[in-house]
Amino acid sequence: MIRTRFTEMFGVQHPVVQGGMQWVGRAELTSAVANAGALGFLTALTQPTPEALAGEIARCREMTDKPFGVNLTLLPTLIPRNYDAYIDAIIDSGVKIVETAGRSPVPYLPKFKAAGVRVIHKCTSVRHGLSAEKAGVDCISMDGFECAGHPGEDDIPNLVLLPAAANVIKIPMIASGGFADARGLVAALALGCDGMNMGTRFMATKEAPIHDKVKEAIVASDERSTALILRSLRNTARVFGNSVARRAIEMEHEGKGIAEIGPVVAGSRGRLVYETGDVEHGIWSAGTSMGLIGDIPSCKELVERIVSEAEALIKGRLAGMAA
Ligand SMILES: Cc1cc2nc3c(=O)[nH]c(=O)nc-3n(C[C@H](O)[C@H](O)[C@H](O)COP(=O)(O)O)c2cc1C
Repeated sequence: MIRTRFTEMFGVQHPVVQGGMQWVGRAELTSAVANAGALGFLTALTQPTPEALAGEIARCREMTDKPFGVNLTLLPTLIPRNYDAYIDAIIDSGVKIVETAGRSPVPYLPKFKAAGVRVIHKCTSVRHGLSAEKAGVDCISMDGFECAGHPGEDDIPNLVLLPAAANVIKIPMIASGGFADARGLVAALALGCDGMNMGTRFMATKEAPIHDKVKEAIVASDERSTALILRSLRNTARVFGNSVARRAIEMEHEGKGIAEIGPVVAGSRGRLVYETGDVEHGIWSAGTSMGLIGDIPSCKELVERIVSEAEALIKGRLAGMAA
């Protein structure tokens, strides 16, 4: 067992988190993560309506009696979302843990606080972590440049970002981006964090509700297989480095704007990747941690392996060095 401020605060067995993942964070994966003793998050905006989210929460409850949370991503979307209605669905369903990301969660904190919901805010810089802490969130998930999805525009990898954040942030902190194994967990703890968050690693698990060909593509890829798109629009996303990503980057170099690039990088095309297994069909998020992923275990096998190897590493190799 590895006990940290995170496991204490959220009442989970292991200091391991499965962060929100658009189209991937559904009940099958989140319940499997919860049953493995880690903390999983359903992804609110994967559900088309707040009512559908309430249904997905109920479905997840049927599959686990362990704690799980809901990710609420506050990024601009093509279809405007009624965040307040999604928040009501979360609160009315009795969910007590929320992961916010994308923008400041401050306007929504009073509602969460009043309902006794604990908020983990995911951000990509020390200054945003500090503001979120000051505003009253319970925990920070700090996403370094390695991560899948939106790493921000500062390009600071976790070897510097995490200890810099730990120097000033007092509340529990989760390390995110580039983590996939026991060595990552031990490093996260050594760098001043209370646990680690993984996205890409959890995609390549048996329970992830995506096509096997996508999981196999992750296993076959390495740490150089991602691409950074939308840098020119200051909305950088780290995605799987396929022909669509290369085309988007080409268009950026040609000086094209969101009106032209938008349809190429549309989420609806990415969604079909997960359904059909055609990894070239659209843009889909994936991180540099692909270089560390070599199999497709169950969530239980993965979490148990990570925790037991981390314990062995701490008690064996590291303790031996300090002796
Ligand atoms: C397929 C995929 C979709 C994601 N979608 C979201 C999202 O909707 N909201 C969010 O806050 N983070 C999203 N993320 C980011 C993850 O929650 C997590 O921060 C990130 O994957 C960590 O980096 P890693 O992939 O190296 O573990 C996504 C990641 C992946 C791989």
